[in-house]
Amino acid sequence: MKRALPFLMLGLAVSSPAFAAEGKSLYTANCMACHGVDADGKGPAAMALDPKPTDFTAPAFWDGKENKELKKIIKTGKPGTPMAPFPQLSDDDVTALIAYLRTFQPQQ
Ligand code: HEC
Repeated sequence: MKRALPFLMLGLAVSSPAFAAEGKSLYTANCMACHGVDADGKGPAAMALDPKPTDFTAPAFWDGKENKELKKIIKTGKPGTPMAPFPQLSDDDVTALIAYLRTFQPQQ
């Protein structure tokens, strides 16, 4: 029982608003130019891009989407699109980013 506690606390931290706040600052620095301040895919650079950056407020985007798919795309990019790879982000950074992106997921 004693050993389970740190893992429990880590689990709480991952879903906490503080973790999403960390994701927000990473998002602002790395993603906002394309994906937009409201995560709706309408960043200042979006106009010039084809396909357009993903709108994270769209219910259809989240349909069945798993964190591990998102993690892979953030780390390695999306071939054939302007979605760049971000290999310099740590696993914790990517988890925080996903927690932040999920704050835009429409509730069913
Ligand atoms: C240069 C512009 C640009 C930047 C910077 C950028 N993206 Fe993207 N992103 C795109 C485009 C374009 C797509 C592709 C949309 C499509 O496939 O229709 C995309 C797609 C995605 C997808 C969805 C992939 C899918 O189809 O499942 C995720 C998740 C994502 N980006 C996350 C991020 C994150 C997190 C960051 C910052 C670390 C970021 N992006 C930075 C342009 C960008």
